[in-house]
Amino acid sequence: MARRRVFSGIQPTGKLHLGNYIGAISLWVATQADHEAIFCIADLHALTIPEAARAAHLRAKVRETAAVLVACGIDPARAILFVQSHVPAHTQLAWLLSCVTPVGWLERMIQFKTRSAGLESVGTGLLAYPVLQAADILLYRADLVPVGEDQQQHIELTRDVARRFHTLFGQVFTLPEPMLQPSGARIMGLDDPSTKMSKSRGETRPRHAIGLVDPPDAIRDAVMHAVTDSGREVRPERPSPGVTNLLRIYELLSGRRSEAVQLEFMGKGYAVLKRAVADLVVTTLEPIRRRYLDIAAEPGRLDAVLDEGAERARPLADATLDRVNQLMGLEEGTQD
Ligand code: TYM
Repeated sequence: MARRRVFSGIQPTGKLHLGNYIGAISLWVATQADHEAIFCIADLHALTIPEAARAAHLRAKVRETAAVLVACGIDPARAILFVQSHVPAHTQLAWLLSCVTPVGWLERMIQFKTRSAGLESVGTGLLAYPVLQAADILLYRADLVPVGEDQQQHIELTRDVARRFHTLFGQVFTLPEPMLQPSGARIMGLDDPSTKMSKSRGETRPRHAIGLVDPPDAIRDAVMHAVTDSGREVRPERPSPGVTNLLRIYELLSGRRSEAVQLEFMGKGYAVLKRAVADLVVTTLEPIRRRYLDIAAEPGRLDAVLDEGAERARPLADATLDRVNQLMGLEEGTQD
């Protein structure tokens, strides 16, 4: 039987953190063995974030992101790892799809509402962001898209755009399914558990996020200062966002069931829970950090991996784009 195809992406912005790892990257690594896996570093998406859109900074972040992904276990011998802008079909298909996507669908996106709130002027790219994301996914006819919960709405939109294209022009795309951690995984900021852990906040607030390549003392410092609540000990019947977040991190990294984890910490002081979480996070991330330092020391090899990834991605993407061009009347096709 043909292996199912997995596609996902990550923006090279801010510092990659434990939420990215638990919500997405760990799933990417797990799928490589028995799926055809394709992962992209979404540099074109990063251009919608003003702080990221500085040339030298963006180039450095693309490399850093690639190095962290490989250090986390993305194996370029098995998965295709490439930079979005190196495969021009992404922007080409995005334009074609934008011609079939109602603006109202884009204005309803939660991420758009959050990121455009309070801005005096909103770039077209911010609104069209999910159309480019749909193009990323649909170009590779992906069956599954491993993502964190915050991206689920964008995958639903991708399906809607594909369906609309099929109705207007004919069948070409595969309708992708989101692939989430079994019990969902939305890791919250340690310094403010009412907001999700975010790459950009992690850049400016040292105790907000756990960076995947942070040194152990920085990790311990962030976890030991994590915001909890006015209580002193773990009481699962009175869950507060901060304590729940720590228990979730422990559960997802240890691979243990939530009931077992609750039972283990029930009645124990917050300091005990924090120490256990810090130990587990440090043990999980230490090998990643060591591999990262080795990989980052050889930028030439990393560039070669990304070049080869783009070489392998291009023909797959072009085949879909050719078919779309034919269906839309831009190229001669067999169905004419
Ligand atoms: P990005 O770069 O914000 O995040 C990368 C992945 O990490 C997940 N994630 C989280 N999961 C759990 N808890 C958190 N606090 C947390 N923060 C982030 C995200 O859900 C995501 O899976 N638009 C995408 C990048 C993208 C993409 C694609 C994804 C571009 N093209 C095609 C899938 C398919 C984004 O900004 O992810």
